[in-house]
Amino acid sequence: MPKVSEFIKYHGKPVREVYLDHENSGWVPPEVVEAMLPYFNQKGYGHPSITNLPGWEAYEVVESTLEEVSKTINARGGELILTHSGTEANNLAIIGGALARGKERNKIITSAIEHVSVLFPARSLEEHGYRVVTVPVDKEGFVDPDLLSMLIDHETLMVSIQMVNHEIGTIQDIKTLVETVKDKNDKIIFHTDAVDAYGRMKIDVEELGVDLLTLSSHKIHGPKGIGILYAREDVKLKPVMHGALSTQRMWPGVENTPALAGFKKAVELAFSNFDYNIEKMKKLRDRLMHGILENVPDVLLNGPMGEKRAPDNLNVSFLYVEGESITVELSLRGIYVSSGSACTSRVLEPSHVILAIGRKHEEAHGSILFKVSRYQTEEDIEYVLSQIPPAIEKLRIMSPLARESRIALKKTVEA
Ligand SMILES: Cc1ncc(COP(=O)(O)O)c(C=O)c1O
Repeated sequence: MPKVSEFIKYHGKPVREVYLDHENSGWVPPEVVEAMLPYFNQKGYGHPSITNLPGWEAYEVVESTLEEVSKTINARGGELILTHSGTEANNLAIIGGALARGKERNKIITSAIEHVSVLFPARSLEEHGYRVVTVPVDKEGFVDPDLLSMLIDHETLMVSIQMVNHEIGTIQDIKTLVETVKDKNDKIIFHTDAVDAYGRMKIDVEELGVDLLTLSSHKIHGPKGIGILYAREDVKLKPVMHGALSTQRMWPGVENTPALAGFKKAVELAFSNFDYNIEKMKKLRDRLMHGILENVPDVLLNGPMGEKRAPDNLNVSFLYVEGESITVELSLRGIYVSSGSACTSRVLEPSHVILAIGRKHEEAHGSILFKVSRYQTEEDIEYVLSQIPPAIEKLRIMSPLARESRIALKKTVEA
């Protein structure tokens, strides 16, 4: 990796920048930063577990943030466990949920397109005698309740299926999936990773009937470093982290109070004008989607169209080009996106999500994930649409894959 300062010295800074990588992390609005600042050195800088004024102030931030979040998902404050990331919350759900039940039942079912922070902890349990079974998804990423039902047996202890897929935006019908599972055996724990659903659709834990649900701050314009696990009052978990003082029954270590104050503000902002924000994201995303599909040849849409797709998500495969070269070319034009699964993009492996919906390796390699935000404008999207066709054209001219496919096409036409 070159030094960023050297990169900028060589290429200059783009004149216009549009950040469309909100899947991986995001921009934090000034109101959120302002809410955080006092907690570094003016108040609440103490330890929330300690009885002195700065400690009480810190404790108040922890409690009021959990209270604010609980209202948005119809939970009680005491049902939320604070962690330091969505990854940690998913680990607690899967490992803590399984270990709390001993080994009478040992089967964990996940979908083929879960985030790695669900898949990897589940796999880690295999070393301890648990079995992980994967329910496949259809070509748009949906889990079929009948298929899920067929996998459930007397050994099943937990099912984990995410609410919205982080790459292709598929919105699962969690209520039906929970009913399917609980009809078979209501002792089976149902966990849903709602990191990509939060702030983009209504979530009501009572209505859904889930036992465990994960959230993360930086996916809703909050600061990094805050995750939350909703665990229904009667759901048992075994601690998976052990150690220092905390107000949290399941997660040791001092709470990140400035980040919590910021997260609280981010929640307030995301949930005021909620319907307007969703409509805005949808409109921007639809313009981007149709603009690309209509103006760039050889593009495949990954994931569903319409109401069953998250309002901020767009994922397309540009055939005959490498995703990584697209992210670099667009970055030089001030457009920031990611390729395949960003969590694995440094290892250049095709995304397991795109492969699971039936795409070929080369189609998965050319997949690009765009995520719009309510802070963006129509002008931002028009700028992106003005840059994508020439960027793809340029890469295809240089691409051996595109050359081979043109030769193959020519041969077919001539034959
Ligand atoms: C669906 C999903 N679950 C979990 C996570 C992990 O959250 P965090 O980045 O807070 O660890 C992510 C992160 O991108 C995600 O997209």
